[in-house]
Amino acid sequence: MKKIKKVIALMLCATVCGSILSGCGSIASLNGGRRIIRISHAQSETHPEHLGLLEFKNYIEENLGDKFEVQIYPNELLGGAQKAIELTQTGAIDFVVAGTANLETFADIYEVFSMPYLFTSEEAYFATMDDTEYMENIYKSTDEAGFRVLTWYNAGSRSVYAKKPIEKPEDLKGLKIRVQQSPASIAMIEAFGAAASPMSFGEVYTAIQQGVIDGAENNELALTNNKHGEVAKYYSYNRHQMVPDMLIGNLKFLNSLSDDELEIFEEAAKISTEVERAEWDEQVQEAKRIAEEDMGVQFIDVDVQLFKEVAMPVQQEILDGNESIRDVYDHIQEINEQFES
Ligand code: GCU
Repeated sequence: MKKIKKVIALMLCATVCGSILSGCGSIASLNGGRRIIRISHAQSETHPEHLGLLEFKNYIEENLGDKFEVQIYPNELLGGAQKAIELTQTGAIDFVVAGTANLETFADIYEVFSMPYLFTSEEAYFATMDDTEYMENIYKSTDEAGFRVLTWYNAGSRSVYAKKPIEKPEDLKGLKIRVQQSPASIAMIEAFGAAASPMSFGEVYTAIQQGVIDGAENNELALTNNKHGEVAKYYSYNRHQMVPDMLIGNLKFLNSLSDDELEIFEEAAKISTEVERAEWDEQVQEAKRIAEEDMGVQFIDVDVQLFKEVAMPVQQEILDGNESIRDVYDHIQEINEQFES
C-alpha cells in the first residue's frame, strides 16, 4: 500500500513539478484554457475536511467554471504537511490544509494554538476561531512567507493513545509518543514525562506498528480514518489541545485574482468550513463506535486535572519565550472567561 502511494505521489509530483521545470512562468497549468487549482491535504476522502473541500471546489466551479478547475489531492499524496506547505509557498500548488502546529516555523504567532489547555471550553475555541475579523490579522502573519490562511477547520480535541493504557501522566514515563513537528507540542509531551517523537502524520501508523513509537496523540478520527486504532488500542481522554487546521493559499495566486474572483474564493472557503463543521461531531461519534466495536479500542476517561497540572508550566514557558503571542493569548483568556460558569 505504502509503495503504491509512493508511486502515485511521484507521478503526481512529476506532473505538478513538471510545470515548474518547463518554465511556464506562472507555474500554473491549464486544462482547456482553464487554470488548474491544486489543493493538498492529509486526510482520507471521507474525512470532514475532504467533504468541505469538495464544496469549495463545487462553489468555485459553479461560479468561475470557465476559468478554473479545482483538483483535490488527499492522503498526503503530494507530501506531508511540511512539504505541501512548501509547495504552496513556492506556488507549485495553490492550496494546502495543514494544522497550525505546522505553521509555527513560518510565523511564531501560531505557537499559541499548540499551548496545552489553551482553551478552557469548546465554546471558547469556536468563539475565538469564528471571529473572522480578529483572526484576519493572524491569517496575514504568513504573508512574508508567501502564503495566507483563508479559513479554518475544526480538528476536535487531541488526546493521547498508545499500545498500553494511560490513566495518569506517570503512565507516560518512558513511552515514545509521536507529536506534530512543533516545538510547543514537543515541550508539552515532555512535560507529561514521555519522549517526544516528531514526525509527519502519514508515518505514524507504521511507526506504531513497528514499535518505533509507543503511541501518538490526536483526535478520534485518527483511529479510524488513518487506522491507528488497528495498532494502538487505548485512547485516553486527557484532551490536551484543540489545534485548528487551516486552509492556506499561495499569496501570489490570491493577489492575482480580481476582487470579484477573490470574493468567490472567500465565500467558497466559508462554505467549506460550514460543511466541515456540520460533519465533524457526527463523524467523531461514528469513529468512536467503529474504533470500539470493530477495532477493539478502549476509550479511557482520565482525570484531566492531573494532566493539566503537569502541562500548565509549559504555557508559561511558551509565553516567556515568545512575546508575539502575548496579545492573542490574553484575548483568548478573555474569551475563556466569558464561557466559564
Ligand atoms: C489531525 C489534523 C491534521 C494534522 C494531524 C497530525 O489529523 O487534522 O492537520 O496534520 O492531526 O497530527 O499531524
